[in-house]
Amino acid sequence: MTQASAQKQRDILVTSALPYANGPIHLGHLLEYIQTDIWARYQRMRGQNCYYVCADDAHGTAIMLRAEREGITSEALIDRIRQEHQDDFAGFHIRFDNYHSTHSEENREFSAYIYRRLQENDHIATRKITQAYDPEKEMFLADRFIKGTCPKCKSEDQYGDNCEVCGATYTPAELINPKSAVSGATPVEKESEHYFFRLPEFTDFLQNWTRSGTLQPQIANKLAEWLDAGLQEWDISRDAPYFGFEIPDAPGKYFYVWLDAPIGYLASFKNLCDREGIDFDHFWNANSEAEVYHFIGKDIINFHALFWPSMLHSAGYRTPSAVWAHGFVTVNGKKMSKSRGTFIMARTYLDHLNPEYLRYYFAAKLASGVDDMDLNLEDFASRVNSDLVGKVVNIASRSAGFITKRFDGQLGAVTETDKLKVFVDAGDEIAECYEAREFGRGMRRIMELADIANQYVNDEQPWVIAKQDGKDAQLQAICTNAINMFRLLMTYLAPVLPKTAEASAEFLDSPLDWNNRGELLENHGIHKFKPLMNRVEMAQIEKMLEASKEQVPEQTAKPAAAANLEPVADEVEFGDFAKVDLRVAKIVKAEHVDGADKLLRLTLDIGHGERNVFAGIKSAYQPEQLEGRLTVMVANLKPRKMKFGLSEGMVLAAGPGGKEIFILSPDSGATPGMRIM
Ligand code: 2FM
Ligand code: ZN
Repeated sequence: MTQASAQKQRDILVTSALPYANGPIHLGHLLEYIQTDIWARYQRMRGQNCYYVCADDAHGTAIMLRAEREGITSEALIDRIRQEHQDDFAGFHIRFDNYHSTHSEENREFSAYIYRRLQENDHIATRKITQAYDPEKEMFLADRFIKGTCPKCKSEDQYGDNCEVCGATYTPAELINPKSAVSGATPVEKESEHYFFRLPEFTDFLQNWTRSGTLQPQIANKLAEWLDAGLQEWDISRDAPYFGFEIPDAPGKYFYVWLDAPIGYLASFKNLCDREGIDFDHFWNANSEAEVYHFIGKDIINFHALFWPSMLHSAGYRTPSAVWAHGFVTVNGKKMSKSRGTFIMARTYLDHLNPEYLRYYFAAKLASGVDDMDLNLEDFASRVNSDLVGKVVNIASRSAGFITKRFDGQLGAVTETDKLKVFVDAGDEIAECYEAREFGRGMRRIMELADIANQYVNDEQPWVIAKQDGKDAQLQAICTNAINMFRLLMTYLAPVLPKTAEASAEFLDSPLDWNNRGELLENHGIHKFKPLMNRVEMAQIEKMLEASKEQVPEQTAKPAAAANLEPVADEVEFGDFAKVDLRVAKIVKAEHVDGADKLLRLTLDIGHGERNVFAGIKSAYQPEQLEGRLTVMVANLKPRKMKFGLSEGMVLAAGPGGKEIFILSPDSGATPGMRIM
């Protein structure tokens, strides 16, 4: 039963998206790194020459401003965060062959080189554009760094590109009373020269590339829509001050972070090649036969499936063999939320739970499509406990003791060859599941085998045989069969559970070798069995959620960073303030509004009858979380006619936006209608 394959070894390079160097890794990120790591570990186990590289995405305005706020250099900030990221990844057993930074010499060189090639090929255009400029801070302002009053519904404090209250989209120039979120100054318009990548030139190339099996069907369809709608030139430059690489021969102009981010894949790989003597060109030449795969989230597909292949093509490199997108992570069916404690940082998870639990849970639910992944915490605990602890580890713990105590640690001969052949043969099917990123299907097949193994032990009842005289050979054979079944299961689970696999190999005193899995363990000494995995307890999960509630990390989300710098508004007379009638209101009903992305319709009781109010808080709250709560409202705001109906007041909330909007609640004891003083 030898499966050693005579096929040619494949050369494979895989990447995961480069995380921004301005915030911690959380469970939302981890789905992708775990998925990629499982795939890469599987390939290595099968004997392929598979490299997995990544890096921190270290450039851009958000990182520059955060470093300024912390009073440190951008370099110091990105060094610190990179170390934190690497520690988190190591904690989850993500095995990169290299972890680099986009702020590296290799990346500077590749970025300049690729840019030069694009220029030579007439794929770079320059023209002047007018943008908002902060005269105090002396910097151009991206839309998200400008706030003001919505030109449509007049809601204050809206970002420069869209209104979170009425959903209107506009340009920052249309905002009423716009302010720089960086300094508080009123932005002015200023012209400057920008550099553009002439993406429309690549329409035909992309029509072919996106339909050549490089993308998942759902993604290819989406791209076909974009291609049919027509491509736009892509602005690849930013003016100083900017943390990034200066564009060659363009003083004061920097590459936009998204230009040099994917080039970071090349840079990280080059860094590895130089260190280990790997032939970089063999992987990246235009006619390379090596395979290159990018694992990414579905939100950044335009960068990876439009700009990136076009840049590579123009610069004379090969294009990726495939780009594989995954969906987003939700927790208990909802977006991750700080207030619910489900915005879980990698470090917080590691403080409470074994990383292999999460690796298994994600694997058990992953398929090759782009569906979102729900981490249901009860299901998580029960699946890990029943599958890994209850089924797989149990097989070894039920048989190993007899081998140690009765046979001095020696396995005997395998007697159930047919049964074991089923286990060995299933390896081909499970291999196909790994290869096709159908991990969930693979895990189900492995658990079916675990059921067979447990059934075998139940039927043979070694604990009964052990008490009978003259049945030693039978007892040893049962346990030898069962331990071989366990060994095959652990071989198949090794890409998902690398540490438990390692401990199992140690216990078995034999490596878990997929390609030679047909060579069973017979007449072989094993070590004393130690428990390989503990049950997940709900109490650990609850503690993790509690700890997550307490954490308020400086976020990766740029709006949050900007909003904290929001200047205090101009002074008002006391008399003006006194005109505002603030009341305690009870939210008697909260509902979704058809067609509105950001709004909820609230029915408020202020003790004088009910009010209908539209509030732009849908990103932070589900309607059912609000019903029955007391909040504070402006009760005498002139009713406003909105697209969806009349809004009779305003609910007060705080926070930078997105998931971080907190409705203000009066102290308990208040009743609807009470005046706020
Ligand atoms: O979306 C993000 O988090 C980016 N930092 C991903 C970059 S992936 C690659 F292009 F570098
Ligand atoms: Zn508006």
